[in-house]
Amino acid sequence: MPHFLDINKTAPSDLRSMIDNARRIKDARNGRPKGATDAEQPLAGHMVALIFEKPSTRTRVSFDVGVRQMGGQTMTLSGADMQLGHGETIADTARVLSRYVDMIMIRTFEEATLLEMAEHATVPVINGLTNRTHPCQIMADIMTFEEHRGPIKGRKVVWSGDGNNVFASFAHAAGQFGFDLVFTGPPPLDPEMVFVEEARAKGVSVTIERDPFKAVEGADLVVTDTWVSMHDPQSARERRHNQLRAYQVNEALMARAKPDALFMHCLPAHRDDEATSAVMDGPHSVIFDEAENRLHAQKAVMRWCLGL
Ligand code: CP
Ligand code: NVA
Repeated sequence: MPHFLDINKTAPSDLRSMIDNARRIKDARNGRPKGATDAEQPLAGHMVALIFEKPSTRTRVSFDVGVRQMGGQTMTLSGADMQLGHGETIADTARVLSRYVDMIMIRTFEEATLLEMAEHATVPVINGLTNRTHPCQIMADIMTFEEHRGPIKGRKVVWSGDGNNVFASFAHAAGQFGFDLVFTGPPPLDPEMVFVEEARAKGVSVTIERDPFKAVEGADLVVTDTWVSMHDPQSARERRHNQLRAYQVNEALMARAKPDALFMHCLPAHRDDEATSAVMDGPHSVIFDEAENRLHAQKAVMRWCLGL
């Protein structure tokens, strides 16, 4: 079953064809109104379940719009409203949903929930974010980088901030797409070393540099994300802010990257915490292209899952 669970679980040739298809799909819309369907209707007659156990703006809207533009239908389900939140097992939920729908996208807390859903579903399952990874976001980010700057292979990407789920998918992508990655952040918020080691084993350089100004030297892309993720306890907010303040992406930091470096943030952002408004709205920033490209990249992911 071609599930899209993580970037490291998908063959590099498939990832490459998804990015190339996403570009083609985007070009083919060619200024059509947002509500207009695509010329190609590969999802006609298909029903996609979108399950959210956490809040979402981009993932919810981009999947919903993407399915509809491709001719399919969606149903959006909140975890709290399903029997899933009231004791029914994930395995049984997966088996039942597979009798009704053609594909499942799930945003959840534990990675184990996603994996159990995929193990028992007889339709493709897509990871719409877990506490550990966010692969759909990084597919959009790779597409966005390449749109602006050409192949990402061999480039230098610097992550400044929390070693979180979005960083983890960047580390997966480093190994699969062949770019070098630098993590800069405080030791308590380091990423899980398994992500770093796996990418290194694929032949790319993944380093940890505590000094953010040294880290960004020669960077082609600087990335950050919220300092408090949805699964982090609110009680950790103040401590995390204190630990991460030195890793804010501001104009002084961007000035040390390459002159044509791009800035990315998956959003939602907390302006003037992890990144200043001057950077988010400045000449390096491609944050709204990233958000738009969720739509196009996920269309390519869904077509790959369904073999369409
Ligand atoms: N970037 C992202 O996944 O945004 P949402 O949480 O709004 O879906
Ligand atoms: N790291 C963030 C990403 C949100 C899209 C979170 O998990 O909350």
